[in-house]
Amino acid sequence: KEAKLWGGRFEDSVTDAVERFSESVSFDKALYKQDIMGSRAHARMLAHQVSRHVSAIVGILEHELLDEITLAGGLMTVSDRDSILHGLDEIERRIEAGEFVWRMDREDVHMNIEAALTDIIGEPAKKLHTARSRNDQVVTDLRLWCREAIDKIVASIKQLQVALIKLGLNNEGLIVPGYTHLQRAQPVLLQHLLLSYVEQLERDVGRLVDCKDRMNFCPLGACALAGTGLPIDRFLTSDALGFTAPMRNSIDAVSDRDFVLEFLSANSIAAVHLSRLGEEWVLWASEEFGFLTPSDSVSTGSSIMPQKKNPDPMELVRGKSARVVGDLMTLLVLCKGLPQAYNRDLQEDKEPLFDSVKTVLGMLEVTTEFAQNITFNHARIQKVLPAGHLDATTLADYLVNKGMPFRTSHEIVGRCVALCVARNCQLSELPLDQLQGINSIFKEDVYDFLGVENSVNKFSSYGSTGSECVAEQLSFWISKLQIG
Ligand code: ARG
Repeated sequence: KEAKLWGGRFEDSVTDAVERFSESVSFDKALYKQDIMGSRAHARMLAHQVSRHVSAIVGILEHELLDEITLAGGLMTVSDRDSILHGLDEIERRIEAGEFVWRMDREDVHMNIEAALTDIIGEPAKKLHTARSRNDQVVTDLRLWCREAIDKIVASIKQLQVALIKLGLNNEGLIVPGYTHLQRAQPVLLQHLLLSYVEQLERDVGRLVDCKDRMNFCPLGACALAGTGLPIDRFLTSDALGFTAPMRNSIDAVSDRDFVLEFLSANSIAAVHLSRLGEEWVLWASEEFGFLTPSDSVSTGSSIMPQKKNPDPMELVRGKSARVVGDLMTLLVLCKGLPQAYNRDLQEDKEPLFDSVKTVLGMLEVTTEFAQNITFNHARIQKVLPAGHLDATTLADYLVNKGMPFRTSHEIVGRCVALCVARNCQLSELPLDQLQGINSIFKEDVYDFLGVENSVNKFSSYGSTGSECVAEQLSFWISKLQIG
């Protein structure tokens, strides 16, 4: 058995069960890019510190000259740095070519890479872990990884927003029933409904971007928990890795995973949004609603019922939101009992994080494809639109416009609706004398307020569903998302 990198004080090796139980390389190898990136920055900083040190002593030497000098002591010589950088390049190449051998007995991604570096370049590799611990290393890797993951999710959300807007543009003027309590409520433009999801997704983007800004601080140099007495420059590594600044407190730097919690919270909210959209489309694809038909390319069949065509992708979007919420719960519970600072429990942060990101990306991709592949059934929607007295609120507003208090008009329109129910007709089909029989305030102009087309356009306050308000919203999004 190979000696562990931490093996100095140990006489016996760990049991196979412990080794298998505690390894993380099988999943944290996903961090290899970030780990190598962090090591490069760290090695450059260490070598830079030497030159700075010496230049302080020598005083007169130029920086460029110093880089030529191979020093025997100090944090790291430039030649050690160069062979480390070289070795890291080679490791990255091997990983990407699938030639790298990941070893479980080397525990995690960090020690796999460090040990492989020693295999490749020998002695200089042993300087890389100067003023560094896996505790600050892993959390640096994780912040770098999350940063990139957030960018991917944000880009993917934007694609879905564009698809929803295009879907709206292809169905201009289509009025659909708006629901509350899943009961017919008021008529809305389909575009208005689709834009409501676009707004929700935009707040998801906002949460992710906020989270990224807050997480973009560098833990590297916090070492195990207390920092170090060695003359490192944390600002240098922070800058090199594109962080805003080094984290102020070394204990905080290695202890917390609040940035993952925040990220998974934002993912969970986004997943819940997608799940609700999924639920709506699944309902709308049913025989009972019949409002939309997904194309074959986004539907699946039944193994027993030959006639079936199911909207499975959106059911799975609804279903997979459970995983995303579950991942957040896992991490919340993982963190709740931990004393400062690093605890090995934190190794368990990665799988829920990776799962959440992978799942949300999949959900976004499939929802976008679904949006690109559904047809709204205009004829069917038009046919069922008159049911449910969607224009009743507009009728109440008509009476308010005539000076009547809203509570009174609500009561009167309620009686009109009761009459319709009794006569099995719509409000627009009630003759004027019948309306006037309920209240004399009704005049011939009432018919301009009845029927869904009239009704929908009476909604004209800022943010309403009337066609002018929706056109304003649309032009906002078209320019914001640069839809050509
Ligand atoms: N694999 C570990 C993790 O993911 C790395 C840090 C381990 N540190 C330690 N002292 N055992 O958290």
